Amino acid sequence: MYPERVLSGMRPTGAMHIGHYHGALKNWVRLQNEYPCFFFVADWHALTTAYDETEIIEKSVWDMLVDWLAAGIDPGQSTLFIQSRVPEHAELTLLLGMATPLGWLERVPTYKDQIERLTHKDLLTYGFLGYPLMQAADILIYRANLVPVGEDQVPHIEMTREMARRFNHLYGREPGFEQKAQDAVRKLGAKRARLYEELRKRFQEQGDAEAIGQARAMLGDAQSLSMGDRERLFGYLEGSRKLILVEPQALLTEASRMPGLDGQKMSKSYGNTIGMREDPEVVTRKVRTMPTDPARVRRNDAGSPEKCPVWQLHLVYSDDDTRAWADKGCRSAGIGCLECKQPVIDAIIREQEPMRERAQVYLDDPTLLRNIVADGCDRARKAAQETMREVREAMGLAYT
Ligand code: TRP
Ligand code: SF4
Repeated sequence: MYPERVLSGMRPTGAMHIGHYHGALKNWVRLQNEYPCFFFVADWHALTTAYDETEIIEKSVWDMLVDWLAAGIDPGQSTLFIQSRVPEHAELTLLLGMATPLGWLERVPTYKDQIERLTHKDLLTYGFLGYPLMQAADILIYRANLVPVGEDQVPHIEMTREMARRFNHLYGREPGFEQKAQDAVRKLGAKRARLYEELRKRFQEQGDAEAIGQARAMLGDAQSLSMGDRERLFGYLEGSRKLILVEPQALLTEASRMPGLDGQKMSKSYGNTIGMREDPEVVTRKVRTMPTDPARVRRNDAGSPEKCPVWQLHLVYSDDDTRAWADKGCRSAGIGCLECKQPVIDAIIREQEPMRERAQVYLDDPTLLRNIVADGCDRARKAAQETMREVREAMGLAYT
Protein backbone atom coordinates (compact mmCIF):
# COMPACT_ATOMS: atom_id res chain seq x y z
CA MET A 1 0.00 0.00 0.00
CA TYR A 2 1.08 3.51 0.62
CA PRO A 3 3.91 3.34 3.13
CA GLU A 4 2.68 2.05 6.47
CA ARG A 5 1.61 4.77 8.83
CA VAL A 6 0.04 4.76 12.27
CA LEU A 7 -2.27 7.54 13.35
CA SER A 8 -4.15 8.06 16.56
CA GLY A 9 -5.58 10.90 18.56
CA MET A 10 -7.11 11.75 21.89
CA ARG A 11 -9.41 14.44 23.03
CA PRO A 12 -7.66 16.87 25.36
CA THR A 13 -8.90 15.72 28.74
CA GLY A 14 -5.99 17.19 30.69
CA ALA A 15 -3.46 15.33 32.77
CA MET A 16 -3.48 11.61 32.04
CA HIS A 17 -3.99 8.87 34.60
CA ILE A 18 -2.53 5.38 34.82
CA GLY A 19 -5.60 4.00 33.03
CA HIS A 20 -4.66 6.09 29.96
CA TYR A 21 -1.09 4.92 30.26
CA HIS A 22 -1.85 1.21 30.40
CA GLY A 23 -4.84 1.48 28.06
CA ALA A 24 -3.32 3.50 25.23
CA LEU A 25 -0.05 5.34 25.71
CA LYS A 26 2.07 2.29 26.49
CA ASN A 27 0.86 0.84 23.21
CA TRP A 28 1.72 4.03 21.30
CA VAL A 29 5.22 3.97 22.75
CA ARG A 30 5.66 0.42 21.47
CA LEU A 31 4.25 1.24 18.03
CA GLN A 32 6.61 4.13 17.44
CA ASN A 33 9.49 1.64 17.26
CA GLU A 34 7.71 -0.32 14.55
CA TYR A 35 6.05 2.28 12.31
CA PRO A 36 6.12 5.94 11.45
CA CYS A 37 3.57 7.33 13.89
CA PHE A 38 1.38 10.44 13.96
CA PHE A 39 -0.24 11.27 17.28
CA PHE A 40 -2.47 14.27 17.68
CA VAL A 41 -4.55 16.19 20.15
CA ALA A 42 -8.12 16.20 18.89
CA ASP A 43 -9.02 19.68 20.12
CA TRP A 44 -11.81 20.22 17.60
CA HIS A 45 -13.30 16.95 18.78
CA ALA A 46 -13.43 18.35 22.28
CA LEU A 47 -15.57 21.16 20.93
CA THR A 48 -18.20 18.75 19.65
CA THR A 49 -19.29 18.23 23.24
CA ALA A 50 -17.59 21.07 25.16
CA TYR A 51 -18.55 23.93 22.84
CA ASP A 52 -19.71 25.91 25.86
CA GLU A 53 -16.63 25.40 28.04
CA THR A 54 -13.80 26.33 25.73
CA GLU A 55 -11.70 27.95 28.46
CA ILE A 56 -10.48 24.56 29.74
CA ILE A 57 -9.21 23.33 26.41
CA GLU A 58 -5.84 25.04 26.10
CA LYS A 59 -4.45 23.94 29.45
CA SER A 60 -5.73 20.42 28.82
CA VAL A 61 -3.92 20.32 25.50
CA TRP A 62 -0.51 21.16 26.98
CA ASP A 63 -0.97 18.98 30.07
CA MET A 64 -1.85 16.05 27.90
CA LEU A 65 1.13 16.57 25.60
CA VAL A 66 3.52 16.68 28.56
CA ASP A 67 2.09 13.36 29.68
CA TRP A 68 2.53 11.81 26.25
CA LEU A 69 6.19 12.77 26.35
CA ALA A 70 6.43 11.60 29.96
CA ALA A 71 5.04 8.23 28.90
CA GLY A 72 7.94 7.87 26.49
CA ILE A 73 6.58 9.14 23.19
CA ASP A 74 9.77 10.19 21.46
CA PRO A 75 9.43 13.33 19.34
CA GLY A 76 12.43 12.18 17.33
CA GLN A 77 10.46 9.13 16.21
CA SER A 78 6.83 10.22 16.31
CA THR A 79 5.07 13.26 14.91
CA LEU A 80 3.10 15.07 17.62
CA PHE A 81 0.61 17.71 16.64
CA ILE A 82 -2.58 19.56 17.40
CA GLN A 83 -5.52 19.03 15.08
CA SER A 84 -6.57 22.68 14.76
CA ARG A 85 -3.04 23.63 13.68
CA VAL A 86 -3.61 21.59 10.54
CA PRO A 87 -6.69 23.31 9.13
CA GLU A 88 -6.73 20.94 6.16
CA HIS A 89 -8.60 18.54 8.45
CA ALA A 90 -11.54 20.94 8.23
CA GLU A 91 -11.36 21.13 4.46
CA LEU A 92 -11.42 17.35 4.09
CA THR A 93 -14.25 17.09 6.61
CA LEU A 94 -16.26 19.54 4.56
CA LEU A 95 -15.59 17.82 1.26
CA LEU A 96 -16.29 14.32 2.60
CA GLY A 97 -19.50 15.63 4.09
CA MET A 98 -20.95 16.33 0.66
CA ALA A 99 -21.36 12.64 -0.07
CA THR A 100 -21.86 11.27 3.43
CA PRO A 101 -25.36 9.85 3.89
CA LEU A 102 -27.00 11.15 7.06
CA GLY A 103 -27.93 7.59 7.95
CA TRP A 104 -24.27 6.64 8.34
CA LEU A 105 -23.83 9.27 11.01
CA GLU A 106 -27.11 8.62 12.79
CA ARG A 107 -26.35 4.92 12.98
CA VAL A 108 -22.99 5.32 14.76
CA PRO A 109 -23.63 3.59 18.12
CA THR A 110 -22.06 6.34 20.23
CA TYR A 111 -24.39 8.94 18.71
CA LYS A 112 -27.74 8.13 20.36
CA ASP A 113 -25.88 6.69 23.32
CA GLN A 114 -24.10 9.90 24.23
CA ILE A 115 -27.15 12.06 23.60
CA GLU A 116 -29.01 9.96 26.13
CA ARG A 117 -26.14 9.81 28.61
CA LEU A 118 -25.09 13.44 28.58
CA THR A 119 -28.52 14.81 29.40
CA HIS A 120 -27.18 18.04 30.89
CA LYS A 121 -25.98 19.05 27.46
CA ASP A 122 -27.73 19.81 24.20
CA LEU A 123 -25.96 17.54 21.75
CA LEU A 124 -28.48 17.88 18.94
CA THR A 125 -25.94 19.90 17.02
CA TYR A 126 -24.48 19.67 13.56
CA GLY A 127 -21.00 19.38 15.04
CA PHE A 128 -21.81 16.46 17.28
CA LEU A 129 -23.58 14.54 14.55
CA GLY A 130 -20.58 15.15 12.29
CA TYR A 131 -17.81 14.15 14.64
CA PRO A 132 -17.27 10.63 13.23
CA LEU A 133 -16.94 12.30 9.85
CA MET A 134 -14.26 14.59 11.25
CA GLN A 135 -12.55 11.53 12.71
CA ALA A 136 -12.61 9.90 9.27
CA ALA A 137 -10.99 13.00 7.80
CA ASP A 138 -8.32 12.91 10.56
CA ILE A 139 -7.33 9.44 9.46
CA LEU A 140 -7.77 9.66 5.70
CA ILE A 141 -5.85 12.89 5.34
CA TYR A 142 -2.67 11.05 6.41
CA ARG A 143 -3.44 7.94 4.39
CA ALA A 144 -2.85 6.10 7.65
CA ASN A 145 -3.48 2.39 7.37
CA LEU A 146 -3.25 1.54 11.08
CA VAL A 147 -5.27 3.22 13.79
CA PRO A 148 -4.73 2.07 17.39
CA VAL A 149 -7.99 2.59 19.26
CA GLY A 150 -10.16 1.02 21.91
CA GLU A 151 -13.16 -1.17 21.20
CA ASP A 152 -15.64 1.72 21.38
CA GLN A 153 -13.99 3.40 18.40
CA VAL A 154 -14.18 0.45 16.02
CA PRO A 155 -17.47 1.55 14.39
CA HIS A 156 -15.82 4.88 13.57
CA ILE A 157 -12.94 3.15 11.82
CA GLU A 158 -15.42 0.96 9.97
CA MET A 159 -17.21 4.08 8.77
CA THR A 160 -13.90 5.62 7.75
CA ARG A 161 -13.28 2.62 5.51
CA GLU A 162 -16.67 3.09 3.90
CA MET A 163 -15.93 6.74 3.31
CA ALA A 164 -12.62 5.96 1.65
CA ARG A 165 -14.33 3.40 -0.57
CA ARG A 166 -17.11 5.81 -1.45
CA PHE A 167 -14.68 8.61 -2.21
CA ASN A 168 -12.53 6.43 -4.44
CA HIS A 169 -15.62 5.16 -6.18
CA LEU A 170 -17.03 8.63 -6.84
CA TYR A 171 -13.87 10.52 -7.64
CA GLY A 172 -11.33 7.90 -8.65
CA ARG A 173 -12.91 7.63 -12.08
CA GLU A 174 -10.99 9.34 -14.82
CA PRO A 175 -11.33 9.49 -18.58
CA GLY A 176 -8.93 7.12 -20.29
CA PHE A 177 -8.10 5.33 -17.03
CA GLU A 178 -7.22 2.02 -18.68
CA GLN A 179 -4.71 3.68 -21.02
CA LYS A 180 -3.18 5.79 -18.28
CA ALA A 181 -2.84 2.76 -16.02
CA GLN A 182 -1.07 0.83 -18.74
CA ASP A 183 1.29 3.71 -19.38
CA ALA A 184 2.03 3.74 -15.67
CA VAL A 185 2.75 0.00 -15.70
CA ARG A 186 5.35 0.62 -18.37
CA LYS A 187 7.00 3.24 -16.21
CA LEU A 188 7.73 0.54 -13.64
CA GLY A 189 10.46 -0.84 -15.91
CA ALA A 190 10.28 -4.13 -17.78
CA LYS A 191 10.93 -6.49 -14.90
CA ARG A 192 8.59 -4.92 -12.40
CA ALA A 193 5.94 -4.35 -15.07
CA ARG A 194 5.91 -8.06 -15.83
CA LEU A 195 5.65 -8.91 -12.14
CA TYR A 196 2.85 -6.38 -11.66
CA GLU A 197 0.83 -7.83 -14.55
CA GLU A 198 1.28 -11.32 -13.23
CA LEU A 199 0.26 -10.42 -9.67
CA ARG A 200 -2.72 -8.42 -10.93
CA LYS A 201 -3.89 -11.37 -12.97
CA ARG A 202 -3.50 -13.72 -10.04
CA PHE A 203 -5.59 -11.44 -7.88
CA GLN A 204 -8.28 -10.73 -10.44
CA GLU A 205 -8.67 -14.30 -11.69
CA GLN A 206 -8.10 -16.24 -8.50
CA GLY A 207 -8.69 -13.66 -5.77
CA ASP A 208 -5.17 -14.34 -4.53
CA ALA A 209 -4.78 -12.06 -1.50
CA GLU A 210 -1.09 -12.73 -1.22
CA ALA A 211 -0.58 -11.57 -4.78
CA ILE A 212 -2.28 -8.25 -4.17
CA GLY A 213 -0.28 -7.76 -0.98
CA GLN A 214 2.93 -8.39 -2.83
CA ALA A 215 1.93 -6.03 -5.64
CA ARG A 216 1.10 -3.28 -3.18
CA ALA A 217 4.41 -3.68 -1.41
CA MET A 218 6.19 -3.42 -4.73
CA LEU A 219 4.31 -0.23 -5.62
CA GLY A 220 5.11 1.18 -2.22
CA ASP A 221 8.79 0.72 -3.00
CA ALA A 222 8.67 2.00 -6.57
CA GLN A 223 10.29 5.40 -6.23
CA SER A 224 9.95 6.25 -9.90
CA LEU A 225 6.15 6.63 -9.81
CA SER A 226 4.35 9.94 -9.55
CA MET A 227 1.60 10.15 -6.93
CA GLY A 228 -1.07 10.00 -9.63
CA ASP A 229 0.42 6.92 -11.27
CA ARG A 230 0.74 5.21 -7.92
CA GLU A 231 -2.95 5.82 -7.21
CA ARG A 232 -3.79 4.45 -10.64
CA LEU A 233 -1.75 1.31 -10.16
CA PHE A 234 -3.17 0.63 -6.71
CA GLY A 235 -6.65 1.02 -8.15
CA TYR A 236 -5.88 -0.91 -11.32
CA LEU A 237 -4.99 -3.97 -9.25
CA GLU A 238 -8.60 -4.18 -8.09
CA GLY A 239 -10.61 -2.59 -10.85
CA SER A 240 -10.86 0.59 -12.84
CA ARG A 241 -10.54 3.38 -10.30
CA LYS A 242 -7.74 5.39 -8.79
CA LEU A 243 -7.27 4.75 -5.08
CA ILE A 244 -6.89 8.21 -3.67
CA LEU A 245 -7.81 7.55 -0.04
CA VAL A 246 -6.57 4.54 1.88
CA GLU A 247 -8.85 2.24 3.88
CA PRO A 248 -7.50 2.07 7.42
CA GLN A 249 -7.60 -0.75 9.89
CA ALA A 250 -8.24 -0.56 13.61
CA LEU A 251 -5.37 -1.85 15.73
CA LEU A 252 -7.38 -2.95 18.69
CA THR A 253 -5.86 -1.92 21.99
CA GLU A 254 -6.54 -4.48 24.64
CA ALA A 255 -9.13 -3.01 26.96
CA SER A 256 -7.47 -1.65 30.06
CA ARG A 257 -8.72 -3.43 33.14
CA MET A 258 -7.45 -0.64 35.30
CA PRO A 259 -9.81 -0.25 38.23
CA GLY A 260 -10.34 3.11 39.81
CA LEU A 261 -9.65 3.62 43.49
CA ASP A 262 -13.24 2.62 44.23
CA GLY A 263 -13.29 -0.43 41.98
CA GLN A 264 -15.33 1.25 39.21
CA LYS A 265 -13.58 1.92 35.89
CA MET A 266 -10.86 4.53 36.37
CA SER A 267 -12.18 7.80 35.02
CA LYS A 268 -11.67 11.46 35.72
CA SER A 269 -15.41 11.97 35.95
CA TYR A 270 -15.63 9.47 38.82
CA GLY A 271 -12.79 11.15 40.72
CA ASN A 272 -11.14 7.77 41.29
CA THR A 273 -7.87 8.17 39.41
CA ILE A 274 -4.16 7.91 40.07
CA GLY A 275 -2.35 10.46 37.93
CA MET A 276 0.45 9.37 35.63
CA ARG A 277 2.83 11.68 37.44
CA GLU A 278 1.30 11.62 40.86
CA ASP A 279 3.40 12.57 43.84
CA PRO A 280 4.70 9.34 45.47
CA GLU A 281 3.16 10.29 48.78
CA VAL A 282 -0.20 10.81 47.15
CA VAL A 283 0.08 7.44 45.38
CA THR A 284 0.78 5.84 48.74
CA ARG A 285 -2.14 7.53 50.45
CA LYS A 286 -4.58 6.82 47.62
CA VAL A 287 -3.78 3.11 47.49
CA ARG A 288 -3.65 2.71 51.25
CA THR A 289 -7.16 4.11 51.57
CA MET A 290 -8.63 1.98 48.79
CA PRO A 291 -11.56 -0.21 49.81
CA THR A 292 -10.87 -3.95 49.78
CA ASP A 293 -12.99 -7.09 50.02
CA PRO A 294 -15.70 -6.06 52.55
CA ALA A 295 -15.48 -9.56 54.09
CA ARG A 296 -12.13 -8.62 55.61
CA VAL A 297 -13.42 -6.54 58.47
CA ARG A 298 -10.77 -7.68 60.91
CA ARG A 299 -7.18 -8.63 60.23
CA ASN A 300 -7.87 -12.35 60.67
CA ASP A 301 -10.97 -12.48 58.46
CA ALA A 302 -10.11 -14.31 55.24
CA GLY A 303 -10.89 -12.60 51.92
CA SER A 304 -11.35 -13.27 48.21
CA PRO A 305 -9.11 -11.36 45.83
CA GLU A 306 -11.73 -11.49 43.05
CA LYS A 307 -13.91 -9.21 45.18
CA CYS A 308 -11.16 -6.63 45.69
CA PRO A 309 -10.07 -3.75 43.42
CA VAL A 310 -6.53 -3.97 44.82
CA TRP A 311 -6.27 -7.41 43.27
CA GLN A 312 -7.02 -5.83 39.87
CA LEU A 313 -3.99 -3.63 40.44
CA HIS A 314 -1.90 -6.70 41.24
CA LEU A 315 -2.98 -8.09 37.87
CA VAL A 316 -1.54 -5.01 36.16
CA TYR A 317 1.52 -4.43 38.30
CA SER A 318 2.70 -7.63 39.97
CA ASP A 319 4.68 -10.62 38.78
CA ASP A 320 3.47 -14.20 39.28
CA ASP A 321 5.26 -14.68 42.59
CA THR A 322 3.83 -11.54 44.15
CA ARG A 323 0.36 -12.42 42.91
CA ALA A 324 0.62 -15.92 44.37
CA TRP A 325 1.78 -14.41 47.67
CA ALA A 326 -1.15 -11.96 47.74
CA ASP A 327 -3.71 -14.55 46.72
CA LYS A 328 -2.60 -17.04 49.35
CA GLY A 329 -2.19 -14.41 52.04
CA CYS A 330 -5.65 -12.99 51.37
CA ARG A 331 -7.48 -16.33 51.39
CA SER A 332 -5.71 -17.52 54.53
CA ALA A 333 -5.72 -14.15 56.31
CA GLY A 334 -1.96 -14.61 56.39
CA ILE A 335 -1.36 -10.98 55.38
CA GLY A 336 -3.19 -7.78 56.11
CA CYS A 337 -4.58 -5.53 53.39
CA LEU A 338 -1.97 -2.81 53.95
CA GLU A 339 0.75 -5.41 53.54
CA CYS A 340 -0.92 -6.63 50.37
CA LYS A 341 -1.08 -3.11 48.96
CA GLN A 342 2.59 -2.30 49.48
CA PRO A 343 4.03 -4.08 46.41
CA VAL A 344 1.43 -2.32 44.26
CA ILE A 345 2.36 1.05 45.71
CA ASP A 346 6.03 0.33 45.12
CA ALA A 347 5.42 -0.78 41.55
CA ILE A 348 3.37 2.29 40.64
CA ILE A 349 5.98 4.63 42.11
CA ARG A 350 8.77 2.78 40.34
CA GLU A 351 6.95 2.95 37.02
CA GLN A 352 6.33 6.66 37.43
CA GLU A 353 9.85 7.69 38.31
CA PRO A 354 11.14 8.00 34.74
CA MET A 355 7.88 9.68 33.75
CA ARG A 356 8.28 12.38 36.36
CA GLU A 357 11.86 12.91 35.21
CA ARG A 358 10.96 13.20 31.55
CA ALA A 359 8.09 15.57 32.30
CA GLN A 360 10.24 17.81 34.47
CA VAL A 361 12.33 18.83 31.48
CA TYR A 362 9.25 20.26 29.78
CA LEU A 363 7.86 21.83 32.92
CA ASP A 364 11.18 23.62 33.46
CA ASP A 365 11.32 24.84 29.89
CA PRO A 366 7.90 25.13 28.25
CA THR A 367 9.36 26.44 24.98
CA LEU A 368 10.86 23.00 24.45
CA LEU A 369 7.37 21.55 24.25
CA ARG A 370 6.13 24.39 22.07
CA ASN A 371 8.97 23.72 19.63
CA ILE A 372 8.35 19.99 19.47
CA VAL A 373 4.71 20.59 18.71
CA ALA A 374 5.40 23.34 16.16
CA ASP A 375 7.76 20.98 14.39
CA GLY A 376 5.21 18.16 14.48
CA CYS A 377 2.48 20.44 13.15
CA ASP A 378 4.71 21.38 10.22
CA ARG A 379 5.42 17.78 9.37
CA ALA A 380 1.77 16.77 9.70
CA ARG A 381 0.65 19.71 7.62
CA LYS A 382 2.97 18.78 4.77
CA ALA A 383 1.56 15.28 4.65
CA ALA A 384 -2.01 16.60 4.87
CA GLN A 385 -1.42 19.11 2.10
CA GLU A 386 -0.11 16.43 -0.18
CA THR A 387 -3.30 14.41 0.20
CA MET A 388 -5.47 17.50 -0.21
CA ARG A 389 -3.81 18.32 -3.53
CA GLU A 390 -4.87 14.90 -4.78
CA VAL A 391 -8.33 15.21 -3.29
CA ARG A 392 -8.99 18.61 -4.87
CA GLU A 393 -7.75 17.42 -8.20
CA ALA A 394 -9.92 14.30 -8.09
CA MET A 395 -12.95 16.41 -7.23
CA GLY A 396 -12.32 18.87 -10.03
CA LEU A 397 -11.24 21.69 -7.72
CA ALA A 398 -7.65 22.11 -8.87
CA TYR A 399 -8.39 24.90 -11.39
CA THR A 400 -5.13 24.61 -13.23
N1 TRP B 1 -12.75 9.92 18.78
C1 TRP B 1 -11.55 9.52 19.48
C2 TRP B 1 -11.87 9.37 20.96
O1 TRP B 1 -12.84 9.93 21.43
C3 TRP B 1 -10.43 10.51 19.31
C4 TRP B 1 -10.06 10.67 17.88
C5 TRP B 1 -10.36 11.71 17.07
C6 TRP B 1 -9.31 9.75 17.09
N2 TRP B 1 -9.85 11.53 15.83
C7 TRP B 1 -9.21 10.32 15.80
C8 TRP B 1 -8.74 8.49 17.35
C9 TRP B 1 -8.57 9.67 14.77
C10 TRP B 1 -8.11 7.84 16.30
C11 TRP B 1 -8.01 8.42 15.02
O2 TRP B 1 -11.14 8.67 21.64
FE1 SF4 C 1 -7.66 -7.14 48.70
FE2 SF4 C 1 -5.18 -7.88 49.24
FE3 SF4 C 1 -6.90 -7.24 51.22
FE4 SF4 C 1 -7.23 -9.47 49.84
S1 SF4 C 1 -5.50 -8.97 51.15
S2 SF4 C 1 -8.81 -8.01 50.38
S3 SF4 C 1 -6.55 -8.86 47.81
S4 SF4 C 1 -6.08 -5.88 49.63
